[in-house]
Amino acid sequence: SMHLNDPAFFARHARVRRHNSHKGSYGNVFVLGGAPGMAGAPVLAGRAALQGGAGRVYLCFAGEPLPVDAGQPELMCRPARDIDFAGGVTVAGPGLGNGDEAARLLARAVASRQPLVLDADALNLLAADPALRGAVASRAAPTLATPHPLEAARMLGKPIDAVQADRLAAARTLATMLNACIVLKGSGTVIAAPDGRVAINPTGNAGLATAGTGDVLAGLAGALLAQGWPGWEATLAAVWLHGIAADMLVAEGTGPIGLTASELIPTMRVELNRL
Ligand code: APR
Ligand code: MG
Repeated sequence: SMHLNDPAFFARHARVRRHNSHKGSYGNVFVLGGAPGMAGAPVLAGRAALQGGAGRVYLCFAGEPLPVDAGQPELMCRPARDIDFAGGVTVAGPGLGNGDEAARLLARAVASRQPLVLDADALNLLAADPALRGAVASRAAPTLATPHPLEAARMLGKPIDAVQADRLAAARTLATMLNACIVLKGSGTVIAAPDGRVAINPTGNAGLATAGTGDVLAGLAGALLAQGWPGWEATLAAVWLHGIAADMLVAEGTGPIGLTASELIPTMRVELNRL
């Protein structure tokens, strides 16, 4: 059965913050990325995770870590090799690169027994490594994967045209292959769960066709998982909020032309608090 993604499916998970809660109540997010020259992608994902409500967010760099994100100094910058991914949700892939060290770091995150978001180069690494795909598929904790059509095509071993010709089938196949909730991105984003549920997302617009918006989506999904949302609802909510934020920015005249990924983040936060 297929649904049009609607906040009624997930809004109850945006619980009121308890008076006696603390940052430990809202979970840790580790953003695994940041190969040399690629620091911006994990910064965007990390800012989205922080403003998506995660208690603590660590930027875990495959390359030399930034000393600090001067625009969001709440983010903690670390070398990825020092991180024990068992301590929280990992968002793996933004700017991760696809070398051997990246693959080793990703394998450690996959083994974490914690919820996991796979994006960008994490998906490219999976496309090249059947054993790692098997390790993902045997995870017990929720896994989300957020491929754009080319990343989906690489994992499926098919041309991109074949993916786009039947996006529903591509998302369903990947959901089964990875035992993960799949977000097949692009206009008319398709969401598929390993149990066969499928939804089409109605929010979002072509203002999102700009570099870094995918990193922001992955970070928000990680934040919701860190706050205890179940995998399917976290996926639906992240995609819906990301799109509605873009729609709100267009409505106020901040786009679609020249809309930036950074601008989505505070608007997503407003919409999350409105749920
Ligand atoms: N309508 C609606 N949504 C759109 C549209 C559109 N026309 N175009 C793009 N989007 C949305 C997608 O659904 C997705 O949520 O914008 C986001 C784009 O995500 P990505 O394709 O992952 O783009 P980006 O963030 O730049 O990726 C960063 O990682 O995936 C790699 O190779 C990629 O280098 C790039 C990096
Ligand atoms: Mg991307």
